[in-house]
Amino acid sequence: MAGGSLRKKSMKRSSYLTKPSHNSMARSTPSFPRGKFSLVISAVSILCVFVVLSISTNIWSVFGTKPSSNPNQALLDQIYAVEVVNEFPHDPNAFTQGLLYAENDTLFESTGLNGRSSVRKVALRTGKVEAIHKMQNSYFGEGLTLIGERLFQVTWLEKTVFVYDRNNLSKFRKFTHQMQDGWGLATDKKVIFGSDGTSTLYQINPQTLKVIEAHTVKYKGDEVHNLNELECVNGEVWANVWQTDCIARISSKDGVVIGWILLPNLRKGLIAAGEMSIDVLNGIAWDEKRNRIFVTGKLWPKLYEIKLHKMKTPFKGDIKRLCMPMPVHFRKT
Ligand SMILES: *[C@@H]1O[C@H](CO)[C@@H](O)[C@H](O)[C@H]1NC(C)=O
Ligand SMILES: *[C@@H]1O[C@H](CO)[C@@H](O)[C@H](O)[C@H]1NC(C)=O
Repeated sequence: MAGGSLRKKSMKRSSYLTKPSHNSMARSTPSFPRGKFSLVISAVSILCVFVVLSISTNIWSVFGTKPSSNPNQALLDQIYAVEVVNEFPHDPNAFTQGLLYAENDTLFESTGLNGRSSVRKVALRTGKVEAIHKMQNSYFGEGLTLIGERLFQVTWLEKTVFVYDRNNLSKFRKFTHQMQDGWGLATDKKVIFGSDGTSTLYQINPQTLKVIEAHTVKYKGDEVHNLNELECVNGEVWANVWQTDCIARISSKDGVVIGWILLPNLRKGLIAAGEMSIDVLNGIAWDEKRNRIFVTGKLWPKLYEIKLHKMKTPFKGDIKRLCMPMPVHFRKT
């Protein structure tokens, strides 16, 4: 997103096995004495059972979803910790609200806060701002996405979407969107996904900026509020949940949360290193070609390339407490 702290604001064939084979049918002719016949039948049945058992065992191991008697297993399969594989410099004055990877080690970023809002082209490796469009003081930059040559940016507490030319960041068009507010944007190159700080994940037509579909994002039946910066990763939509160290992995088909990525180590590591003025985790970018995932935060001096690891030890925390805060409503004053 979107908003910052309250301060921000001020600032997813076994049928033939169960049938008798042609061979066993041939043997089941009446010329066989009855005793032999039933012997053959039981031998065939035993064989079938054996084959079915061994095949089903293989199937489970292929899919890695062997039913487990451990009730925590299903939960463990959904929760990921992260490992930092690279870190890069990031402008510590950038109140990151939108982040995306273009190509060639280039990022585009949208920053917020009135008077400090911008759209910028940033070199990944150096963090250097290569081009910047500074927004008018009345605007608070939010989510950003790129389709073809056009960058789309939403703004906080406004229904305005700005469209820029990616090559020179010159403003191209201005639209009005239909979400309640402008927080996060992302694309699968077909539709634009949008968030507005509620639990709704919108699908938006990139030509008209009209909402074509909307789903309430839920985890185990409960709404996930405060959806913020978005990224499309491998057919999923990932969302920062505002004011948390959590990224929700959302199914774009129905809004169901299919996994959680927990990243408290990043923010806590920065604080332990003396970075006391940083704000929350916000900003996810995906390099599809090389399958690299980048994350940063508001006013973070670093941007991280991360790898996900399924939690191996039983997760003792409470996802609802850590990642699903109560809804917050903002109003323009
Ligand atoms: C990639 O970036 C480098 C360094 O900025 C530049 O020299 C090169 O022309 C770029 N290539 C493309 C395809 O944009
Ligand atoms: C930005 O680039 C586009 C073409 O990519 C061009 O039509 C437009 O005039 C440029 N704007 C400025 C201000 O240079």
